[in-house]
Amino acid sequence: MQKIMLNNGVEMPILGFGVFQIQDEKECEQAVCDALLAGYRLIDTAAAYQNEEAVGRGIKRSGIPRQEIFVTTKLWIQDAGYNSAKKAFKNALDRLQLDYLDLYLIHQPYGDIYGSWRAMEELYHEGKIKAIGVSNFQNDRLLDLIMNNEVKPAVNQVETHPFFQQIENAQFMKEQNVQIQSWGPFAEGKKDIFKNEVLVEISGKYNKSVAQVILRWLTQRDIVVIPKSVREERIIENINIFDFNLKQEDMELIQTLDTKESLFNRPNDMARVKSLNSMRFNI
Ligand SMILES: NC(=O)c1ccc[n+]([C@@H]2O[C@H](COP(=O)([O-])OP(=O)(O)OC[C@H]3O[C@@H](n4cnc5c(N)ncnc54)[C@H](OP(=O)(O)O)[C@@H]3O)[C@@H](O)[C@H]2O)c1
Repeated sequence: MQKIMLNNGVEMPILGFGVFQIQDEKECEQAVCDALLAGYRLIDTAAAYQNEEAVGRGIKRSGIPRQEIFVTTKLWIQDAGYNSAKKAFKNALDRLQLDYLDLYLIHQPYGDIYGSWRAMEELYHEGKIKAIGVSNFQNDRLLDLIMNNEVKPAVNQVETHPFFQQIENAQFMKEQNVQIQSWGPFAEGKKDIFKNEVLVEISGKYNKSVAQVILRWLTQRDIVVIPKSVREERIIENINIFDFNLKQEDMELIQTLDTKESLFNRPNDMARVKSLNSMRFNI
């Protein structure tokens, strides 16, 4: 598996497995186990997905040694702040049945993120987390966090797919030495992405699926990807992307699909900020 070196020297697989919206515990445990046996070595979960226990069981059941697996989870807004973040981190480790994390992300740029960051910096210095980062941070919030803290985020996980390519934002993150990670690489199936004419045509040229073309396009841009599937054949299909390279002309064709707009959030959507801030989970 190809790896990316983070700004603190830690290596992260360029392709991993996401478990958002795998609510059923057995299904999640099975999917994580299938993914690890198929060769994935990065699992991306979050406290808000409410499936960390199942992820932990899937890891154990796979029999793959802990140190070979890069495990990410995320701190939800309700646990923002120094004391709450420390407690939330411990609870997350307990649910995952792990004694350290590879990557801990602030899930959303809301609440007392500076308190959270101080707690995460301490846990990082104590060796309980190998790298710390953020998710869904716009460039201004990212730069502010960088300029007002000691440890720079290693990763910013943001929506990135053919319809929202994050070209300028990825460039900014690169200049800041913050690794971009894509969530929703398939746009969660929206806009009939798997039937998109441009993508279907390119997939035919390489004898690959549309999903594989999308993941190859992202990884050729040095973007870390974490596709989700509960189907074993798709889990295998989605990791099988390193035996071909998209030509520059095809990378450019995919670039024409960019709408530069999120498919999930509108800019300055205050109702969404309110709704996210009031989401409470039993965690
Ligand atoms: N930080 C954040 O705020 C945030 C937000 C969203 C997601 N994420 C992370 O990013 C991960 C990936 O994003 P996502 O789960 O939202 O969506 P996604 O990976 O873009 O899309 C998942 C969808 O694509 C389908 N699919 C997967 N592989 C396929 C294939 N080869 N062919 C056809 N369909 C396929 C899946 O169906 P089946 O399962 O039925 O195969 C599912 O409906 C998440 O699991 C999570 O870890 C983070």
